Amino acid sequence: MPHARFTHLLNQQRSYLPPEHGKSSAWICGEEDYTAICRQALEDPQDFWNARASLLLHWFKRWDRVLEADEVNHKYRWFTGGKLNAAFNCIDRHLISGRRNKAALIWQGEDDMAKRCYTYQMLYTEVCRMAHALSSLHIRKGDQVALYMPMIPELVIAMLACARIGAVHTAIFSGYAEGGVRSRIQDARARVVITADGAIRAGKVKPLKANLDPILEKCPSVAHVVVVRHAGIENVNMKGRRDIWWHDLVDDFTLNADFPCEAMDANDPLFLLHTSGSTGKPTGIMHSTGGYLTYAAHSTQWCFDMRDDDVYWCTADMGWITGHTYGVYGPLALGATTIMFEGVPTYPKPDRYWRIVENFRVNILYTAPTVIRSLMREGEAWTERYEHNSLRILATVGEPINPEAWHWFHKHIGDSELPIVDTWWQTETGGAIISPMPYATRLKPGSACKPLPGIDAAVLPSPAQDGEDGDGAGHLVIRKPWPGMMLGVFNDEAKYQSYFSRFGCYESGDGARVDEDGYFWILGRIDDSINVSGHRLSTVEVEAVLTSCPDIAEAAVVPMPHLLKGEGIYAYVLTRDEVPWSDALRKSLRDAVRRDIGPLASPEYIQFVEAMPKTSSGKIIRRMLRKIAANALEELGDTTALANPQALPAIIRGHQNLLQGLPESAPAEEGGEVFAGGSE
Ligand code: PRX
Repeated sequence: MPHARFTHLLNQQRSYLPPEHGKSSAWICGEEDYTAICRQALEDPQDFWNARASLLLHWFKRWDRVLEADEVNHKYRWFTGGKLNAAFNCIDRHLISGRRNKAALIWQGEDDMAKRCYTYQMLYTEVCRMAHALSSLHIRKGDQVALYMPMIPELVIAMLACARIGAVHTAIFSGYAEGGVRSRIQDARARVVITADGAIRAGKVKPLKANLDPILEKCPSVAHVVVVRHAGIENVNMKGRRDIWWHDLVDDFTLNADFPCEAMDANDPLFLLHTSGSTGKPTGIMHSTGGYLTYAAHSTQWCFDMRDDDVYWCTADMGWITGHTYGVYGPLALGATTIMFEGVPTYPKPDRYWRIVENFRVNILYTAPTVIRSLMREGEAWTERYEHNSLRILATVGEPINPEAWHWFHKHIGDSELPIVDTWWQTETGGAIISPMPYATRLKPGSACKPLPGIDAAVLPSPAQDGEDGDGAGHLVIRKPWPGMMLGVFNDEAKYQSYFSRFGCYESGDGARVDEDGYFWILGRIDDSINVSGHRLSTVEVEAVLTSCPDIAEAAVVPMPHLLKGEGIYAYVLTRDEVPWSDALRKSLRDAVRRDIGPLASPEYIQFVEAMPKTSSGKIIRRMLRKIAANALEELGDTTALANPQALPAIIRGHQNLLQGLPESAPAEEGGEVFAGGSE
């Protein structure tokens, strides 16, 4: 069980009632309504999901069965026999429902003057052209297309063009570096990669296409690369018949060239998205067309109380699951207006978000606690310059929101009135699982509140009590299937089964507590993941990069509390014999991680150690290393299981020295060699 960093939240008794104003027209209007719907949904889930899928989506053919469950193999197939197309649901049907000229996608570039707006009709046109273009590259139903793209409208167009054809898109966050991109393209066996000349971020241009070129040499499945001209990079190397400019490719197709939607089976995959798992290899989570889209539309409507005239902004990068579900599929399936922003919150000044809110009269703002903490640090003066009275609902995702950030957001952006919807979910769950309903739930800052109607979430103790659960903390599981649940793990059935092996139902990998009112308090990951600024990273992946450096014999990577990022990365490394400890080595290790995984995974601290704490069978005891990194020395627990207890005092001393900027070892006491440690 993770260190209960958030247990103090449980003592935070202050709660906030949902707003009265607007309640009567809400989708879920009040606690009684919510309780009644939950009861109904749990009593007859099939009837509940049957009704939601009928109401929310357009089906070319209705399903034969709502759910086919193979409990032995944990295979759950929703809406079997049903036929639909995600792009049709996100675009075409709105053309005949009075939304043809409504803004579907508003894009704000990093340059304040760079704006684009696509109506549903315009989106339809561009998606059809791209679908033709992909088809001309021989992309067919079931083929994989990788999207390594910045936050530009072409990313959404590419996603929907794939959906239209029935191709499976697999987005790769543009912040990933070589190893992260390569492993994803290889695992997906992508036939086409769509990218841009570069991504613009905080005034700098990251050359995406140039980064991609060496990677593609090791990706034999890729036949074509489509490149969007975006960042103004000159002399982009376009390789022979492989590389094509986006504008040249779509130019062949006229503006009125309809591309008919492929009728997809409800359980055909819509997309593949890799997440960091407990092994070094990224886990390719597959989502279905029918179940996923139903759940995306359902949860968007209820968690954000989405109404037809809302302008909605999910700040997440589309390369993550949040961008997929709540930037693209959920809002567009409901016919809403969704905003896409290319920049970062603090560049060129920390007013970007508030300018956008004022400029586009945003009604619903969905962001991450790490963003709130960084803006909070900049002070209220930046928020006060702008009107934000268009806002109706605030929401967060990705990590627990600490009460300080919650209260700041509530007071300064929500005028002490607006509900804050803290949504807990994962790449695997497809959509929000635990979340307040904005007009129905009494809020407790720091708690994601209660499961959505139709979700049977619970906290279970470890089957074999490891003595660490204590205080009612346990494993957060979901006992019954729901339509947003992943279809499987691409090419890795054993990994898929591992989600069910411990409890016989879906295990999230998070620790949680439930309080006396039935509110869920998320305690963080139990497995080997670290949540840096709401981004899930694998410790094993980082360790693999560190140990691939010739000077390093062993590495152990653990999370540490971080004021802004929520969690940061703390790495313990053991150098090979004779390799001196130095800041230069630290830097080269950091550079290796940045180069291979991306800057996101760069360790906050790298501590050299003389030995790792180990069991008698030679396993590194990471639990103790976590406690040391978190400065929770009093919680080290029973150290008798250590085969080398003498290692611990030296590691603790090294840690304290590192924090104070002193050399890590205490050579006088150890009688060893003097190492050139240094501050971070
Ligand atoms: O630990 C939980 C944390 O993010 C993990 C999922 O990461 P990912 O699959 O990348 O998806 C992120 C966006 C949905 C979870 O296992 N997490 C997500 N939302 C919350 C959270 N932790 C606490 N509170 C949340 N609201």
